[in-house]
Amino acid sequence: MIKVDISHVWGQIALPDLLAMEKEVAQAHATLVDGTGAGNDFLGWQNLPTREPTEEILRIQSAARKIRNDSDVFVVIGIGGSYLGPRAAIELLQGPNHNMGKGKGDPQIYFAGNGLSTRHWNELSRLLEGKDFSIAIISKSGTTTEPAIATRALRAKLEEKYGVEGAKSRIYAITDPCKGALRQMANEEGWETFVIPANVGGRFSVLTPVGLLPLAVAGVDIMELMNGAMDAKESYDLRSFDNPVWLYAAVRNLLYRNGKSMEIFESFEPGFKMFGGWWQQLFGESEGKDGKGIFPVTAEFTADLHSLGQMIQQGQRNIFETMVRFDAPAEKMVIGGDEKNLDGLNYLEGRTLDFVDEKAFLGTLAAHVDGGVPVITMDCGELNDRKVGEMFYFLELCCGVSAYILDVNPFNQPGVEFYKRNMFKLLGKPGYESK
Ligand code: PA5
Repeated sequence: MIKVDISHVWGQIALPDLLAMEKEVAQAHATLVDGTGAGNDFLGWQNLPTREPTEEILRIQSAARKIRNDSDVFVVIGIGGSYLGPRAAIELLQGPNHNMGKGKGDPQIYFAGNGLSTRHWNELSRLLEGKDFSIAIISKSGTTTEPAIATRALRAKLEEKYGVEGAKSRIYAITDPCKGALRQMANEEGWETFVIPANVGGRFSVLTPVGLLPLAVAGVDIMELMNGAMDAKESYDLRSFDNPVWLYAAVRNLLYRNGKSMEIFESFEPGFKMFGGWWQQLFGESEGKDGKGIFPVTAEFTADLHSLGQMIQQGQRNIFETMVRFDAPAEKMVIGGDEKNLDGLNYLEGRTLDFVDEKAFLGTLAAHVDGGVPVITMDCGELNDRKVGEMFYFLELCCGVSAYILDVNPFNQPGVEFYKRNMFKLLGKPGYESK
């Protein structure tokens, strides 16, 4: 079980205030699970975890085997909820340099269509030169501009290399079961397709083919991941403050009510950065509406202690932190000795890097708490495929409960449309001239 420790928030909130929230949290949890709240037509994510492979998971595993055999590179096209989840899990499990030394048999994985940078496109184009590759196009609506442009360009590259027919067997579409331009294209062109259920929103879709196909291609055991999610679904249904979901959702709302309007979600693992990005979208898009919401920020320690550290320690006191911890890996790095000891490090000779990391964690925790920043710690235990599935479901649940405590609809994102409307008008998209 993921352990949420709130012993470093006292002083900023009081125990009676937390206990007084019991009814409110119970109500929010029931509203979510019983499907009686705002946005209840997007609760399909709660039914995604499974112990046995479904027919679609078997198809995903078989497509992944084919891609691993016939591709040096797999390009995953998508943005927002159709992108962050798989990248988060791959980087958390395999590190930010996961592509190093990979090729056919265990393809490199790159992401496209998550922005409009020509430099990024040029870099990807060069990278694909002389390589066998396949693509996954992920879009729930099937009409998002960034992935649509990347799809057009990468499809042209595939057709140039393999011919129109050859390209077809290297394109996988992940989209709505019936609606949207991508669904129509996939049906007409005869591409293999996987479904994002209509009742699952983008940022809650990582346990659908959106996450599962790229992860299976990356060599992640997706049934272990799904079992982890199922563990979470079963373990975190508890209706009391013994449930870490309750603790996290309640404490962050109490802190918010006490003026802590920004949360830094952080870890001491460089591979955690994109997971932080996934969390940022999950909480930011779910809670940031009606003039409310905790502003979600992510950080990587110890690196960011040398950039954000000053601000956290002595800047505006409107922040709290959630520090995510994992067990140390079995393979150790031991610090060596040096006869001259010019760097003065001999006092650490024979110590492991983990030992130093643990002290950095404890030192940071104490410093920030002393500086008036409440810190929640989240101990996730051993980092593996199953754990990542548990973390995804756990945080989705926390997000739903927390947003209902905040009294907002966790499952819509009307604000995302505003920039699109302006962009379409500026681009001269038919139908948007007068908007
Ligand atoms: O959470 C969301 O709904 C968004 O972030 C979407 O995932 C994102 O805008 C991409 O949309 P689509 O999958 O329709 O291309």
